[in-house]
Amino acid sequence: MKRFRSGEVDHAEPLQKQAAAKNELSYTYAQVSLRKQKENLPVFHYKNALLFLLEQYRTVVVTGDTGCGKSTQIPQYLANAGWATKGKQGIAITQPHHIAAVTVAGRVADEMNTVLGKEVGFSIRFEACYDINTTLIKFMTDGILLNEIMKDPLLRKYSIIVLDEVHVRSVDTDLCLGLLKKIQRKRPELRVIVSSATYDADKVKRFFDLGSQHDNCATILHIGGKRPPVDVFYTTNPIPNYIVSMSETILKIHYSQGPGDILAFVTGQDEVDDVISNLKMELRKMHPQKCKAKMSLSILPLYSRLPMAEQEKVFERTPKHVRKVIVSTTVAETSLTIPGIVYVVDCGFTKLNIYDPQSGIDSLSVCPASQASLHQRAGRCGRTRLVIPCDVSCEIFCLTGFCGKHIVCQFLHCTLGPMCRGHCPT
Ligand SMILES: Nc1ncnc2c1ncn2[C@@H]1O[C@H](COP(=O)(O)OP(=O)(O)OP(=O)(O)O)[C@@H](O)[C@H]1O
Ligand SMILES: [Mg+2]
Repeated sequence: MKRFRSGEVDHAEPLQKQAAAKNELSYTYAQVSLRKQKENLPVFHYKNALLFLLEQYRTVVVTGDTGCGKSTQIPQYLANAGWATKGKQGIAITQPHHIAAVTVAGRVADEMNTVLGKEVGFSIRFEACYDINTTLIKFMTDGILLNEIMKDPLLRKYSIIVLDEVHVRSVDTDLCLGLLKKIQRKRPELRVIVSSATYDADKVKRFFDLGSQHDNCATILHIGGKRPPVDVFYTTNPIPNYIVSMSETILKIHYSQGPGDILAFVTGQDEVDDVISNLKMELRKMHPQKCKAKMSLSILPLYSRLPMAEQEKVFERTPKHVRKVIVSTTVAETSLTIPGIVYVVDCGFTKLNIYDPQSGIDSLSVCPASQASLHQRAGRCGRTRLVIPCDVSCEIFCLTGFCGKHIVCQFLHCTLGPMCRGHCPT
């Protein structure tokens, strides 16, 4: 295993840089190699720092702006540094949603020039794509990690667990955090990386430090560098019905703005359907002669209950004269990179599972989204154009939303009974 000690230099790097410099001349504006894209990401400059900190600390909390490369690059650095051994111990990375686990795994497999399911795999409910003998990097949902803990309480199959997008604070994420802290007491060699773009890193560090006999149990690595600026527009007047306003805003962008796909956020599946039918109705009403748009619209829904094949359609590139509009729930809020997204329309609300002590039942309620959520949603635009300098303006039309700083922790607001039953071994 290649390990880094204080003051050690990675000699492979200058050679890589020289090779990249030689190849640079062959890069064209439209075609930038995957390696060049990787080197342009802010996290690239923190590779050695991360590997060094993992030698010194059991837990590293990684923070960095959205799109800086946390989910796609960190697993590759770990695998290349020898933190995983084929058929013995691997690297597990959790994602909050199925679609995120599948697409990020696909991207990492592409970047490592391997077939998905060999060195890089994923495991989600009802679908597994990995090989126990060859997979080094395995993406999974938080729920799958909990199931793995049920089967092997010390997670001996893994040398490092990366809890990604921890700001989501779902019940599963919180359970994973607590259980990993316990596992580390029994397995001090197990490393944990907790990463997020929008979370209070000190809080996580304190959590992992607390009750430990070792002084330096956890540390924070902040990845500097900002993503290209995003213009944010807010409505100045209160909106009586954001479903209608959302369709109007999407059409306004379509008719007045340049090329680029649109991603719209609403709170649930019913609202996704409402916005889509509203949009289709408005488009039908439009007189063809009055319609000034040079492009046609392709409208796609995205929510977690949609079959996987339908969800994957949002990643397909559209023909030149077609503008893609994706109407999504919070599924697209974190971790996803949807190529071509330049405009984000955000309703500013989210659905939370809230326990009502009087009736004794949980119910999904629409609440203002947190600042962290809004920042994450904004971070979905302009991601695939990072590598090429271009003057495309990325815009957010936020219809409302003033709220707490972080996403509400679900653990405190719902009953845990059904959740515990879901993870009990049968
Ligand atoms: N499927 C993809 N297609 C094209 N480019 C991609 C894809 N996935 C990632 N990228 C590129 O890699 C960059 C880093 O993505 P990554 O998901 O690692 O960022 P991140 O730091 O985890 O962001 P977030 O906090 O939003 O999850 C993106 O900004 C984008 O430029
Ligand atoms: Mg990510």
